[in-house]
Amino acid sequence: MRKTFVTICALCLCLVGMRAQGVSVTEGKIAVGDNPAWSQPSFVDSAWQTLALDREWGEQGIQKTNGYAWYRIHVVIPSSLRQGVAKEVLLDLGPIDDTDETWLNGVQVGKTGSNPEDPAGYHGQWNVPRRYLVDPSLIRWDQENILAVRVYNASGPGGFFERPVWIGKPALSDYVSLAVTKGKNSADVVLASRISCGGTVTVVKEDLLGGGELEGFSRKVKLNPRKPYKVSVPMDGQVRVVVSYADNLFEDRLDASLTNPYILTPPAPAIPRYNGPLVFGVRPGSPVIFRLAFSGEKPMKYAVEGLPEGVVLDEDKGVLSGSVADEGDYPLTFVATNDKGTTRASFTLKVGPQIALTPPMGWNSWNCWGLSVSQEKVMASASAFLNAGLADYGYSYINIDDAWEAAGRNPDGTLSANEKFPDMKGLGDWLHANGLKLGIYSSPGDRTCGGCIGSIDHEKQDAETWASWGVDYLKYDWCGYSKVFNPGKDHSKAAYLRPYVKMQQYLREQPRDIFYSLCQYGMADVWEWGAFVDANSWRTTGDITDTWESLYEIGFERQTELYPYAGPGHWNDPDMLVVGKVGWSSLLRDSRLTPDEQYTHISLWSLLSANMLIGCDLSQMDAFTFNLLCNNEVNAVNQDILGRQAHRDVEEDGVQLWSRDLYDGGKAVGIFNLNEAPVPALLKGCLEKMGIEADTVRDLWRQKDIPTDAVYRIPSHGVLFVKVKNL
Ligand code: GLA
Repeated sequence: MRKTFVTICALCLCLVGMRAQGVSVTEGKIAVGDNPAWSQPSFVDSAWQTLALDREWGEQGIQKTNGYAWYRIHVVIPSSLRQGVAKEVLLDLGPIDDTDETWLNGVQVGKTGSNPEDPAGYHGQWNVPRRYLVDPSLIRWDQENILAVRVYNASGPGGFFERPVWIGKPALSDYVSLAVTKGKNSADVVLASRISCGGTVTVVKEDLLGGGELEGFSRKVKLNPRKPYKVSVPMDGQVRVVVSYADNLFEDRLDASLTNPYILTPPAPAIPRYNGPLVFGVRPGSPVIFRLAFSGEKPMKYAVEGLPEGVVLDEDKGVLSGSVADEGDYPLTFVATNDKGTTRASFTLKVGPQIALTPPMGWNSWNCWGLSVSQEKVMASASAFLNAGLADYGYSYINIDDAWEAAGRNPDGTLSANEKFPDMKGLGDWLHANGLKLGIYSSPGDRTCGGCIGSIDHEKQDAETWASWGVDYLKYDWCGYSKVFNPGKDHSKAAYLRPYVKMQQYLREQPRDIFYSLCQYGMADVWEWGAFVDANSWRTTGDITDTWESLYEIGFERQTELYPYAGPGHWNDPDMLVVGKVGWSSLLRDSRLTPDEQYTHISLWSLLSANMLIGCDLSQMDAFTFNLLCNNEVNAVNQDILGRQAHRDVEEDGVQLWSRDLYDGGKAVGIFNLNEAPVPALLKGCLEKMGIEADTVRDLWRQKDIPTDAVYRIPSHGVLFVKVKNL
């Protein structure tokens, strides 16, 4: 933590803080536009505007949001930084929205991301911290230095945004990297260094169920750029490999760990098995878009008994299409046949006013691609629905989040997609032909959260445009509407409802069913009135991220009182899933949640009847993520037709017991261990505390019946997720 800032005098206009190890710079100068001369120290920038470096330029009165702008930061660098272990000096610029090229005293010293005119095309990297090491010969010691930063921003407010710039001594991590990655049955440790150094590596294998260490060793190592240190540690079951490296020169250490992503879901049988919801709601006359979700060996042939007039089946794909004129419940039998046999499943098509009879299951672009989404990336995940088999488990929505919008409206006021989405209608048609559905995103304000055009004063036109593309889902995100809302100072519930009622009317005028998803982070207790504006779901919190803190707050703390408000047709939405490869940008990483936290995430979202919108790039899905998303017994809790959201029954010593009723008389129960260490849980005792008697208990992840009078060890942040039934 940087706590001590002492203001020193500066020749420059910027605010400078200094402590022994470096200089903190809180302000810089900015000009919108692009000019190579601005990189040079001789350029006179006295007419430029001064800006804080911990907030984006869009928030500081710079109107132009997209394109190039330059920062020039004047800073005195003290010669005290010359001494130290490393010869170089660190320029720690923090993350920059979206790309940067950086010059120190006229010499380029760094670049992150790629600009539209670069051979590779645009690649934003807004969330990547910039740490550039510079040769000390470039520095004018104890004098003013000019740091010139050319920034390209694709959309939204851009530039420096997180924290002051820091100029100081490099850290161990600037030279030495420690990575622990998953090998076949091992944790593979690689310690690599850009300089010659040495220290001690310690490796420990921990037992996540029993607690304690299984094995470990400490070793002295010498590193140089040609000689990394590598070791593979065998890994099996519920274990974690923890590695540290203590460096002699820096007197500092690096830590890394890897929990084995152990798979609990048994493989699906080769014979067809139905994994989808038991009901589907469609309004009279609206298109029926439904894919029969059968796992099992392909090819498969499908048949449906009891189809109402107007609906047809594609027998090879298992896709229902058409429409039904008359309201009513139509009991159907799905039949799927492959080389291994035939399976039948009962189902009800409910033609009536209510859609979304079970929570939506699908994919959304935001948590992986953020503003870098494109039609190609959307298609890559949509194809994985078919190729990797997610559609066989009931996932059907492919939702495009922010950044599909063109930069301006057309002369007639309509809004087209930008160049990254060459054919929205074609995309919609392709999805529908495969029994999948298309989702889109907008805001009731003038701008979306990502700075794109919103729907204000064009609600009708936008609803019509979306319907013409075949949109089946709208996420309508408050964001820019704050500007309309605040000046009025009308904070009544009616004021919060207004923009959502308006769009709802136009959605209902379209000749298709459009799932209406409110996104306003839970303001004005949206769960109390969401259903009145005909919403099918409403976000209950701010944005989720892939950390335990975020999952804990959003999933556990903020949902406890919300169960009365969910039910068929209208659901609480605690935000999208953060498993698999996420990143909110073109740069993806594995979710930072541990495997146990990911089991907890999916179990909890199933209990909460939450929207199951996958937030990762499905074209890079691994076996562990598939096991999380495609466990039919776990998903059946989420899709249960009673639609009763779980409530927390017991909270004791860091263990929370949640339960929900199921339509077949059973109950789903989650025993969550929120502690930092594993806990033993006597299943019978837990159920008794909840007032639940059980004849049979089934472990849903492992898909096997288990005895109640046994003690189960639950890993830290992990879960035992069961279904209880009485005979
Ligand atoms: C908000 C929403 C996110 C996402 C972004 C898009 O932050 O909560 O889910 O839609 O906007 O800009």
